[in-house]
Amino acid sequence: MSEKSPSSTLMNDIINLCKRRGFVFQSSDIYGGYNGFFDYGPLGVELKNNIKQAWWKDMVHRRDDIVGLDSTIIHHPMTWKASGHVDNFTDPLVDCKESKMRYRADQLYFAPVVVAGETIGYVSVLEDEGMQAQAEEMAHDLKRKLAKQGEMAPIVLKDYTEAKPEEYALIPSPATGKPGSLTPPRAFNMMFQTYVGALRDETAIAYLRPETAQGIFINFKNIVDTGRVKVPFGIAQVGKAFRNEINPRNFIFRSREFEQMEIEYFISPDADWQALHKGWIEYCMNWFDGIGIPKSRLSLYDHPKEKLAHYSKGTTDIMFEFPFGVQELQGVAARGDFDLTQHQTVSGKSMEYFDEAAKKKYVPHVIEPSVGVDRIFLAVLSAAYCEEEVEGEKRLVLKLHPRLAPYKAAVFPLVKNKPELVARAEALYKRLKRRWNVFYDAAGAIGRRYRRQDEIGTPYGVTIDFDTIEKDGKVTLRDRDTLQQVRLTEDELVAFLSEKIDG
Ligand code: GAP
Repeated sequence: MSEKSPSSTLMNDIINLCKRRGFVFQSSDIYGGYNGFFDYGPLGVELKNNIKQAWWKDMVHRRDDIVGLDSTIIHHPMTWKASGHVDNFTDPLVDCKESKMRYRADQLYFAPVVVAGETIGYVSVLEDEGMQAQAEEMAHDLKRKLAKQGEMAPIVLKDYTEAKPEEYALIPSPATGKPGSLTPPRAFNMMFQTYVGALRDETAIAYLRPETAQGIFINFKNIVDTGRVKVPFGIAQVGKAFRNEINPRNFIFRSREFEQMEIEYFISPDADWQALHKGWIEYCMNWFDGIGIPKSRLSLYDHPKEKLAHYSKGTTDIMFEFPFGVQELQGVAARGDFDLTQHQTVSGKSMEYFDEAAKKKYVPHVIEPSVGVDRIFLAVLSAAYCEEEVEGEKRLVLKLHPRLAPYKAAVFPLVKNKPELVARAEALYKRLKRRWNVFYDAAGAIGRRYRRQDEIGTPYGVTIDFDTIEKDGKVTLRDRDTLQQVRLTEDELVAFLSEKIDG
């Protein structure tokens, strides 16, 4: 499955907000940007770190059967030979010889234009929500240009991987609109290459990891020998992955440098892998729901047997309703013993595990829940973005889960020219800041200060007013989503925030 281009206004609104408020910037902006690379600004890095920390806490710290790992980005190159990535990690690439544009063959669609039973030419379009209408319009233009009479057969689009060799020369390039310049599709390996050491020859080639998973497999023995782990158990890793995507698109959804959070959950070959696979899918969906990606916007896609990746016994994608269509958020694959067996064969080192309970040795099988941090980031923003009317005024609000919000609370003195009130607000700010990332804002009307925080998803506003210093010492807590206000002592406030943020 491949995604549509970002035609929706919601997507544009999210991209604009990200830039305007410092969540995400196009990388190397001052040099015109660099396609497929993104930088996370002051608010973006907070949100991203909070996603990773929530995942680590829930997957590693709060479970007894998962341990962590942080392996290198560059592994011994044989790792990628053994895993199959050197030979199989490819996408079908088409070049336009004239414009020098490059396309993914499965995202380039074409159709013959048949009028009164005669094929008068071909049209081609790039995958997009409106591609059928666009292709039909092009076909009518062609018919007019060639002054053909008669009825046109329906335009049936196919992707370029389905083109017959004799059609390659007839299909127009989307860049030039003319046939004859597109090459047949060829396998393009998506791994970024580099050289390690002083020599720049074939023997020095190394790869930036295209997934974090292999770092786990090549450390399997180290962890079994040192970690007091017993099958079934998992190893979790968070880190950068790099893929030279032919067509990076949809903002941070498909980029060339991204982060993954992967678990390899090792099980006995005799275990009921289907049940465990299903269990992990449910567990991950519940986790998404718990951090503000509602189940109602999630669905499942089972990869058909004939399209499974080379290593997989079964893969289910957890799909999310992104603004540009329903797309993969996470893959949950049953990889069998493929990876460990491959590394055992290629390295010559045993990957067998002795199961004391079953009193036998085996190479464990594995269930792999694998998700991109950047995709969760986009899903979280898509679910949280909301424009609504409050007290007759429009407001833009990011309804982020408190665990993920960049700032957990904002502290406001009601006015900035009353020293006692300001001192109290600053003291509270300092107290809260020791535990959480909180914001202090004394400038402007209180309503405007609330709106600024709503827009970046700060869940709680805390106001220090005249009653605080003159009467009860209590502060006003405003809830971003319900707009309800309650008065609390400072200790009650800390307990409340702790429950909501760390709970
Ligand atoms: N180890 C298995 C693996 O890497 P994958 O389906 O290729 O499987 C897993 O990737 C997850 O990584 C995807 O579900 C997605 O969330 C994320 N991902 C993959 N390619 C990505 C890209 N180019 N940009 C951003 N995230 C990506």
